[in-house]
Amino acid sequence: MINNLILETPQGFSDFELLDSGASERLERWGGVIIRRPDPQAIWPRRCGSEVWGKASAVFDPAGKGERGAWKFLKSLPQPWTVEFSGAKFLLKPSPFKHTGLFAEQAANWAWMVEKLKSTRSTGSGQNSRPKILNLFAYTGGATVILAKAGCLVTHVDASKPAITWANENHKFNSLPQDSVRWMLDDAVKFVKREVRRGAKYDGILMDPPAFGHGPTGKVWKFNEHLPDLLSDCVSLLSSNARFLLVNGYATNSSALALGNLLEAAVVRRSGPVEAGELCLKDSSGRLVSTGIFARWRTS
Ligand SMILES: C[S@@+](CC[C@H](N)C(=O)[O-])C[C@H]1O[C@@H](n2cnc3c(N)ncnc32)[C@H](O)[C@@H]1O
Repeated sequence: MINNLILETPQGFSDFELLDSGASERLERWGGVIIRRPDPQAIWPRRCGSEVWGKASAVFDPAGKGERGAWKFLKSLPQPWTVEFSGAKFLLKPSPFKHTGLFAEQAANWAWMVEKLKSTRSTGSGQNSRPKILNLFAYTGGATVILAKAGCLVTHVDASKPAITWANENHKFNSLPQDSVRWMLDDAVKFVKREVRRGAKYDGILMDPPAFGHGPTGKVWKFNEHLPDLLSDCVSLLSSNARFLLVNGYATNSSALALGNLLEAAVVRRSGPVEAGELCLKDSSGRLVSTGIFARWRTS
C-alpha cells in the first residue's frame, strides 16, 4: 500500500542547473547556455533579480509567432549544443514547443533504472544475456541512450518520425553498437498488443505517455482513458526475471498517488514494492520545483 510520496531530484547532472523559477517561468543552464522559458506551475515570486535573469541567451515567448509561441535568441547558441550525464552525451535543440529535447528531471529515473539492472542475473549468453528493455513514448531517446550504454537491448517506440530521428542522432553521437536499439515508429498501444500476441518478454519497461497524443496513423491517446489497459498489457510482457516497470506523467490531471494505486493493482501478482512521487528540480536557492509524476515497481 502506498502511504507516502517520494520527491525525486536528479543527482550528478552538472551540465544542468535550475538557476531560478517564479512568475510563471524557469531560468535554466544547459551546458554553457542559459535559457528562460514558461512554466505555468511556477506561480511563486522569483528569488533572483534581473542581474541573473538577464543572462539568458534564449527566451521562449509564449506570445511569439509559432503555434504555441517562439524562441527569441539574444546570443547565438553553440553548434552542436550538447550536455552530458553519467558519460552519455545528448544533442539539444530549441524545439518549437519550448523544449530542448531532454527532460533533466528524468535523470533521476535513469539512475534508478540502471541501479535496478545491476542486480540482473541472466542465464543466457551473448545477446540473450543482455537485459531487454521496452521504452514506450520514448521521444528523443534520453533513457534509450542511458540504457543502451548500460549494456541493454532497448526497443524504442514513438509515434513521431522527428522524435525517432533525433533519438537516432543521440544514439550515433554516443557511438553505441547499432544492434543495441530496435527503433519502432509505431503507436505504443498497438505495438504492445502485438508484442503480447507474439509472447515477447522484457526485463524492464518504462513509459512516458503524454496527457494527450496521436499514433502515427492519427489514433488518439488519452492518459486517463488508455493507461489502465496499456499497463496491464505491459505487466504481461514482463519476464520472470524482470527488474522494473516505470510510468511517468507530465501535465496530466492524475496525481502521483492515483498513478501509484493503478500500478500497484496492475502488478498485484508480482513480488516487490510500488512507489510513487513527483519528479522535481532543485533551484539554486534549494527550492524544489515539481515537473511531473511517476510510479514505479521493482522486483524485491
Ligand atoms: C512526454 S514525451 C516523452 C519524453 C521522454 N520520455 C523523455 O524523458 O525525454 C511523449 C512522447 O510520446 C510520443 N507519443 C504520443 N502519442 C503516442 C502514441 N500513441 N504512441 C507512441 N508514441 C506517442 C510523442 O511523439 C512524444 O515523443
